[in-house]
Amino acid sequence: MANVVVVGTQWGDEGKGKIVDWLSERADVVARFQGGHNAGHTLVVGDEVYKLHALPSGVVRGGKLSVIGNGVVLDPWHLIGEIEGIRGQGIEITPETLMIAENVPLILPFHGELDRARESQNSVAKIGTTGRGIGPAYEDKVGRRAIRVADLADDATLELRVDRALVHHNALRAGLGLEAVDRADLLARLREIAPAILEYAAPVWKVLTEARRAGKRILFEGAQGALLDIDFGTYPYVTSSNVIAGQAATGTGIGPGAIDFVLGIVKAYTTRVGEGPFPSELLDEDGQRLGERGHEFGTTTGRKRRCGWFDACLVRQTCATSGVNGISLTKLDVLDGFERLKICTGYELDGERYDYLPTAADRQARCTPVYEEMEGWSESTVGARSWADLPAQAIKYIRRIEELIGCPVAMVSTSPEREDTILVTDPFAD
Ligand code: IMP
Repeated sequence: MANVVVVGTQWGDEGKGKIVDWLSERADVVARFQGGHNAGHTLVVGDEVYKLHALPSGVVRGGKLSVIGNGVVLDPWHLIGEIEGIRGQGIEITPETLMIAENVPLILPFHGELDRARESQNSVAKIGTTGRGIGPAYEDKVGRRAIRVADLADDATLELRVDRALVHHNALRAGLGLEAVDRADLLARLREIAPAILEYAAPVWKVLTEARRAGKRILFEGAQGALLDIDFGTYPYVTSSNVIAGQAATGTGIGPGAIDFVLGIVKAYTTRVGEGPFPSELLDEDGQRLGERGHEFGTTTGRKRRCGWFDACLVRQTCATSGVNGISLTKLDVLDGFERLKICTGYELDGERYDYLPTAADRQARCTPVYEEMEGWSESTVGARSWADLPAQAIKYIRRIEELIGCPVAMVSTSPEREDTILVTDPFAD
């Protein structure tokens, strides 16, 4: 199997960074296909910690091509800042190692302002976004008024695109009590950043097609998690992109047949940042303990994450919508020392039992979890590298998860260190 897609199966923050880094060592190309710098991927390599937001995780490994696909929305100023930061940590980034699709829509300063204005002005509309302009930038893409990377190359086109966007945005801003956008200033800023971005611009669909023909291994790196998917997530409390595995094809310009293995990243419990339903959320001491032991604070916003028991019903659903072939279970050690563990297996709503999360937001909010209980384990699972290193109860917990979600475990990650991994199935294996 040559090409692997890695997706989060919960509400993001499943620990994708480590797994992607682990897999990227064996990949030739690492491609981002959705989201933007709302993502936060932490990579620990030796003593060095890298915090990436917009850059694909492959950049920290020498000799790989990292690609930002058309499904991503890109803040050019943020990206250049991130590149400089990573260079400061001794990583080389050149147009040979990083390519940005020419059809990537840009996140502009007014997108961030709009995002934050909506979040603060009207509590009814609050989503709990990262405030980075992701939603407004995708709105402009679909509204056919986005400024895309390729537009930076021609000044007349750029002016035309800016005017087209401002007709819409200035009207919107007036309604929100925001000043009109300073056109001259925006154009000056775009002209200034253009050469730094255009250096990396490339027809990514073509580069990936050629890489595939040459037998190169491509790793598609998802951001966020399937429950934040614009179609299949807990709408409207979602991000504005498709997060599920099918987006790897649309968001880079490679056919769906190119995807050989979908690896779903599954945290051994559940977390969520921002607003929205969360049936297995714990507001008690157990929730507090999961948050503290799991260091559950957002990489991008520093916000405290909401914590709860593992929800097998939701992960069964997201494994189905992403066509997950195998899962990577992460942060099992956070459960060490819990006397009893609960797993959500379904919901009750208006006297009826559900084996999936109903679609309507009000119904999702009213679902009460149905739990089964298991005995926990007192031993440490930190750093386990084989099944023999795990307590029997921990293995039982993993096996029960496999059964309930209907998907086998391909890997178990037992610490942030890349070597602390139990490998069952190599997603890249032929
Ligand atoms: P946005 O993507 O900034 O529009 O935020 C929409 C929702 O997605 C909010 O609930 C965010 O907390 C959530 N979100 C966005 N990116 C991430 C992520 O990388 N991890 C976890 N949650 C995220």
